[in-house]
Amino acid sequence: MRKEVVMITGANGEIGHGLISHLGKKGDIGILALDVQPLDADLVPYCQRFIQGDILDNMLLGRLVAEFEIRTIFHLASILSTKAEYNPETAHRVNVEGTLNLLRLAVEQSAWQGRAVKFIYPSSIAAYGIPDLETKNRAGKVKEEQFLQPTTMYGCNKLYCEHLGRYYTRHYRQLAADKGSASVDFRCLRFPGLISADTIPTGGTSDYGPEMLHHAAQGIPYQCFVRPDSRLPFMAMPDAVKSLLQLEEAPQENLSQLVYNVTSFSPTADEIQTVVKKYFPKAEIHCQVHGSRQAIVDSWPGDIDDSAARKDWGWSPDYDMNRAFDDYLIPAIHRRYPPK
Ligand code: SER
Repeated sequence: MRKEVVMITGANGEIGHGLISHLGKKGDIGILALDVQPLDADLVPYCQRFIQGDILDNMLLGRLVAEFEIRTIFHLASILSTKAEYNPETAHRVNVEGTLNLLRLAVEQSAWQGRAVKFIYPSSIAAYGIPDLETKNRAGKVKEEQFLQPTTMYGCNKLYCEHLGRYYTRHYRQLAADKGSASVDFRCLRFPGLISADTIPTGGTSDYGPEMLHHAAQGIPYQCFVRPDSRLPFMAMPDAVKSLLQLEEAPQENLSQLVYNVTSFSPTADEIQTVVKKYFPKAEIHCQVHGSRQAIVDSWPGDIDDSAARKDWGWSPDYDMNRAFDDYLIPAIHRRYPPK
């Protein structure tokens, strides 16, 4: 008998940590975790099985099809926006070919199981590309279908993979005589910047938010790489996990679209600094603008419209900015970096 599991790629990443700890503590479904690096020790107890391997390794993925009954794939593995700009072709391979391989795995699983396999995919505000700051400031809450001209390889990859998900769900092998009955149920969230108390992102462009906080908590000076007036939408990690699971559970007939914005609060870098300094008054935070990273942030919306997610599947974040710091980030970060 194959074992029913949810599969989580990018297990060691920021969202992977949040999702695996949450599902593992609940304990009602087995977790099959995948990462290119050895699994972080704190996640080991939560995973029924961990495979150290590459999502580009089709042989490896083929073996998983034979061994497990995969209910849902949470495909979290990806090379983030800043890192991707240093090696765009590698990023394309991991972000696009990796996603294609997993969609293919979902098709094979579904054919074997005789039911749809859910594919939950985190896209990003990086899918947007707003031409200039004036337009950004005028745009207000950006809707899913607006400004889809990303300027980064990561953003292009995310937007294209949203299309791939739609293709695999609605049009896969539409002309083939033997197209079979396999079906992929692709559901996608466009995430804002995420802030976690337990992990620090690597290689993203919204990283200045979490980095400011984690540096302050450790008493390490921080050079913020964007202007104080830079505004991006953010969300606390527990809300990111909640949105992934709510979207997974939503009845298919309630979903009027495949791609949903989700967000919570939209501070400027200066407002993040102010709240960080409220809790860590001795924090040393200076501004040293990195021109190219600033340009990326300027091309992303200052806020996004998540009314479709609210309407279709009852999305509502638990943590606004005050609650995120007061009730989640600060208590958890004090546990993580106890005062010396
Ligand atoms: N946090 C991501 C990044 O900065 C955006 O999704 O690349």
